[in-house]
Amino acid sequence: MSNPGKVKVGIIGSGFEADIHAASFQIMPEEAEVVAVASPTPGHPETLAERYQIPRVFHDYREMLKEPDIEMVTIAAPNYLHARMTGDIARAGKHVVCEKPLCMTLDEADEMIEVCRKQGVLLLYAEELFFTPKYVKAKEMADQGAFGKVYLVKQSEKHFGPHSPWFWDVEKSGGGVFMDMGCHGIAFCYWFLGRPAIRSVLCQMGTYVHADKTRGEDNSFCILEFENGTVGLVENSWARRGGMDDRVEVYGEGGVTYANLHMGNALETYSEYGYGYAVEKAPSTQGWSYPVYEELWNYGFPQEMRHFARCVRGKEEPQATGEDGRVVMEALYAGYHSAGTGCKINLPFRPQGVQRPIELWRK
Ligand SMILES: NC(=O)c1ccc[n+]([C@@H]2O[C@H](COP(=O)([O-])OP(=O)(O)OC[C@H]3O[C@@H](n4cnc5c(N)ncnc54)[C@H](O)[C@@H]3O)[C@@H](O)[C@H]2O)c1
Repeated sequence: MSNPGKVKVGIIGSGFEADIHAASFQIMPEEAEVVAVASPTPGHPETLAERYQIPRVFHDYREMLKEPDIEMVTIAAPNYLHARMTGDIARAGKHVVCEKPLCMTLDEADEMIEVCRKQGVLLLYAEELFFTPKYVKAKEMADQGAFGKVYLVKQSEKHFGPHSPWFWDVEKSGGGVFMDMGCHGIAFCYWFLGRPAIRSVLCQMGTYVHADKTRGEDNSFCILEFENGTVGLVENSWARRGGMDDRVEVYGEGGVTYANLHMGNALETYSEYGYGYAVEKAPSTQGWSYPVYEELWNYGFPQEMRHFARCVRGKEEPQATGEDGRVVMEALYAGYHSAGTGCKINLPFRPQGVQRPIELWRK
């Protein structure tokens, strides 16, 4: 590739995940630098720009896309905007990093992959669990045969619900916790096992705690059967109190490993008075809490963004792509349909006319 310097990055969004993107590039600054941020929320992009010394601020991302030096744009905006933004970024000739879930529908996923292919730009899928050091270590051990033949992989992520109103609005999010966090677990099992085809999906879900604020499910169980006979079990909750919980279990005929991402990397803390640390999604720091150190690093966000920048320079092959996001989307469709019908759904599964995956559960 011709440009030897750092990859120039623009960020779309100025909320929770945009902050993580900006912080990640700051933590690992060798390969890329954030030169612009675009978000319509009054005051927010300016605040983000000030926090991370980002020189250019835009309120309309399409204006940012006119900047000729920007090579890669990260999308940290609500799910319903991902497909449209990807098309605009690709047509501006810039590489795309799209947050999870990839988009709202399989049609959108196909369009996103196609437009990026046609424009000759990368479509990189921001699934940080592929870069989470503890989970990467578990995969390395499994690949080396430490557990013998793996028959079950479990991934779960649970907390008491997201921070922004749009997550609760299924028109903008596409679904509840299964869409929001089940996408991580599905991607994780698929990646961990070396990307075998998913043969079937069986799901149960319900809205147990937050029916006053959403039509989306706030708890879900999902069983994936892979073509090699291995099973994935993905558990998610927006109903779990006590802060964030993210963990993995791997079972093989010759061994097992447990990886507890938060409490396993935390200070076991009791405080009568509380303290000024934002334990993610925990309501309070009084009493028992589990503050995680180096949280972004432990999650793999800086490593992920560095990898994406290196892909743009041709130094690495993409490890998380639009195709991965599409596989996840098909499993999400099948999962919602399974929960709606009570049946196990075999893949390929391609119902027509879907606008939001959750429609397949709650018609
Ligand atoms: N990888 C992860 O672990 C992870 C964690 C949280 C969120 N996410 C994903 O990141 C995305 C953003 O989530 P969030 O938590 O940052 O939400 P958020 O509500 O905190 O922020 C959303 C941002 O999008 C911006 N936005 C809205 N409309 C826009 C538009 N038309 N143009 C440009 N910007 C616009 C808003 O101004 C806001 O800054 C979602 O897809 C979410 O699923 C991923």
